[in-house]
Amino acid sequence: MRIAISTGGGDAPGLNAVIRAAVLSAINRGWEVLGIKRGFAGLLGADEVIPMTKETVRGIGHQGGTILRTTNRGNPFCYPRRRTDGTVDEVDRSDEVIDNARERGISAIITIGGDGSLAIAQRLFEKGMQIIGVPKTIDNDVNGTITTFGFDTAVTTAIEAIDKLHTTAESHDRVLVLEVMGRNSGFIALHSGVAGSADVILMPEIPFHIDKVCEKIMARDRVGRHFSIVVVAEGAFPDGGEVHMIGESLPGQAKRVGGIADGLAREIQSRTGKECRSLVLGHLQRGGVPTGYDRLLAARFGGAAVRAVEEGKWGHMVALQSPHLVTVPIIDVLREPKRVDPMHDVVQTARSLGISFGD
Ligand code: F6P
Repeated sequence: MRIAISTGGGDAPGLNAVIRAAVLSAINRGWEVLGIKRGFAGLLGADEVIPMTKETVRGIGHQGGTILRTTNRGNPFCYPRRRTDGTVDEVDRSDEVIDNARERGISAIITIGGDGSLAIAQRLFEKGMQIIGVPKTIDNDVNGTITTFGFDTAVTTAIEAIDKLHTTAESHDRVLVLEVMGRNSGFIALHSGVAGSADVILMPEIPFHIDKVCEKIMARDRVGRHFSIVVVAEGAFPDGGEVHMIGESLPGQAKRVGGIADGLAREIQSRTGKECRSLVLGHLQRGGVPTGYDRLLAARFGGAAVRAVEEGKWGHMVALQSPHLVTVPIIDVLREPKRVDPMHDVVQTARSLGISFGD
């Protein structure tokens, strides 16, 4: 048995722990393991395919990033191709991926990625590839699993930022707006905002009204709380308005969400007269060592992925449905993206604590 592992899309703390667990679980079964570098680029001649041994994964369980590298511009079904005149178009190279895997004697692939990589996995599965998915994203927006590794680390980083912003906001009687990641989901904002005692949380699932946000800030001011912390998900938008996008994307790359914090801070300052500053936490949320929770979840996913290969669960994704690790068909996971339920108990509790969602 020879299997291969690849990591695709944006990185997330815990990827190396999945790789380590999958490699060791496979080698301890007497299997051979290959690592496809940079998504599927290694199978398209744009990067390497390397042998994975116990030595390759020694000491990586606690490290952020991915030793296999990754890309969010590597969809083999629309792979960027630079023409001789310098322009770029997209071509379907999925057959090459499948042929090259077959030529290398790879009988199964474990692909670790978010919704984009899982959609690629589903299409490769439909073309006959024996593939297992492992959900990965700091955004926690993959359906079928209670959570994804990387999310807890990102939330922890955001909470540390909120804690630090609290002290300086209070010293200066300022409103501080912290923009966190999540693309079109508000899990990072909600969880870090509640755990970090934010005053306002804005997220895509609950479109906000700027006057309600300002009302909350001024209500605090009137009772002597002259500072406020606003946590805004990058994908949040005003009721009737649109999601803020960041400039141009590179060829083959999904449109990027973000940049709402600055305008929001200026709007709050002009409406309330209170001094307001903003901070975009950005890729700090994707870096650093995974938390203990994420390391364990990642290790469980890696081990479960190898068991799924053993059982021939092709086209399935490993998932946490507490307390169990299960497998679910990737096609079911892709039916709709996971979003915060506005009636979820965390939202209800936040409201009971006096946190405003700007609605
Ligand atoms: O999906 C993970 C994520 O970090 C999102 O939260 C964010 O919108 C996006 O990736 C950023 O992508 P990039 O690394 O391409 O800027």
